[in-house]
Amino acid sequence: MKKKDIKIKWPNNKETYASEGDDWFSTAEKAGLGIPTGCLTGSCGACEIDVNGETIRACVTDIKSNKKSLLKVSLTTDPFWEN
Ligand code: FES
Repeated sequence: MKKKDIKIKWPNNKETYASEGDDWFSTAEKAGLGIPTGCLTGSCGACEIDVNGETIRACVTDIKSNKKSLLKVSLTTDPFWEN
C-alpha cells in the first residue's frame, strides 16, 4: 500500500492526505467536496482547480508531490468553491 504522505489543504479548510498518483476527484470527496466535471478528457476546463497557484485540470492530472508535500487547493473562478 502506498504511503499517504501528501497533505492537501482544501478551500473548505479541511485537510486530507493522498499518495502520489491518486486522483483528484476521490481525494476531494474525502474532504467533502465535489470537483465539477464535464468532458473528463481534458478539453472543457470544468474541472480546473488551482494547486499551489498553478491551474490544473483534475480529470487528466494525478496528484503529484512537491518538496514540501503540501498542496493548497483553491478555485477562484467557480462560486461553488468560494465559501
Ligand atoms: S472535465 Fe473537462 S477538462 Fe476536466
